[in-house]
Amino acid sequence: MFQPKYEELVTQVTTPAYVFDIDVLCNRIQFIKNKLGNKVQLCYAMKANPFVVKAIENQIDYYEVCSHGEFDICERAGINMNKIVLSGVYKAKHDLEYVIAKYQDTLIYTCESPNQFHMIHEIAKQMNIKVNALLRITTHNQFGMSEDQLCSLIEKRKEFPYINIIGIHHFSGTQRKKINMYKEELEYVDSLILKLENEYGYVPDKLEFGPGFYVEYFQHSKQPYDEEELLDGFVDLLDNLHFQGQITIELGRFIAATCGNYYTDIVDYKVNDVPYCIVNGGMHQTTYYGQMMAMKIPYYRQLKKKEVQGDYINCNISGSLCTINDNLVKGLTLQNPEVGDIIEFQRVGAYAMCEGISLFLSRDLPSVYLYSNKEGLQLQRARFETNILNFKQ
Ligand SMILES: Cc1ncc(COP(=O)(O)O)c(C=O)c1O
Repeated sequence: MFQPKYEELVTQVTTPAYVFDIDVLCNRIQFIKNKLGNKVQLCYAMKANPFVVKAIENQIDYYEVCSHGEFDICERAGINMNKIVLSGVYKAKHDLEYVIAKYQDTLIYTCESPNQFHMIHEIAKQMNIKVNALLRITTHNQFGMSEDQLCSLIEKRKEFPYINIIGIHHFSGTQRKKINMYKEELEYVDSLILKLENEYGYVPDKLEFGPGFYVEYFQHSKQPYDEEELLDGFVDLLDNLHFQGQITIELGRFIAATCGNYYTDIVDYKVNDVPYCIVNGGMHQTTYYGQMMAMKIPYYRQLKKKEVQGDYINCNISGSLCTINDNLVKGLTLQNPEVGDIIEFQRVGAYAMCEGISLFLSRDLPSVYLYSNKEGLQLQRARFETNILNFKQ
């Protein structure tokens, strides 16, 4: 596990930096797979962390790929195309033409609307290829299609010989820990599948279900959360479904969050009413879902430049953007904080590296490293200048 001392870190890593620990990630996937059992397949929603796709290829069954950019990453990484579920609320025609022409029926396509379904069918027809597709049912937002639209496509499926509708796709939201929510949603999808069977003689082979499992990002949570209990409860729900086909569970955050650390240096220290540590990163590089005005304390370590004893004080950790909102944490307990110390923010393996307002102030993007016990630290992306994107000479 990557838990460096100060010297080890500064000699190997340019901060601000993310380090994604592949051993931790693989153990996590193994834990989830053991809990879900071998009848259930696992799909990694790569939007959570695209840097690790290749490293986990042997561990997971599918990737949920949600844009052509993500598809390009998989192609560049040499991911086996039969592991790809090409999803996304917007799929450009020319991108689909490229993918279908090159990879044909190897991957699975999701259809988020009747228009998307017809477009995919039209392209497949022109190329004389029959492609496999999942129909995404909406959860009452802009994603997926309504039940009526979905039923209508199923009813008329023989009119679309170039699409083999292999099943249903359902995803409704992230950071959810109430078993009743999963229960309601699974019961709904199960009843929809029963309706398709009874009314249209259609039996899907596959259900791809994204539960949005919760990750605990903060210390001292008022509502303790037992993820093993949650997974056990979820598996019981799956066991009680009428649907007997292949179930694929689509997860992002729950797989990747714990594999990542973010390192940022204290570059200034001052007391303006309260102590402030200014760091060379910022809130645009560490989004913790559920953080509220930087009041919640994430999991962290302080790496001291000088091993000296000192008092513990509570500091505000502020980043280097020009906004008073750029606070990573308020009231973080640090021992005698000094310029040069490094703060390791933990559980940033999902979304943190992609979700931020990265172009603001033309600050550089952090460097990214993958770590494993076997390979050591490997640079995935060197620190990257964004100023060149914000003005062209
Ligand atoms: C379609 C789809 N599947 C899976 C996910 C991953 O969700 P999570 O990271 O909560 O597992 C998302 C997240 O936005 C999504 O849109």
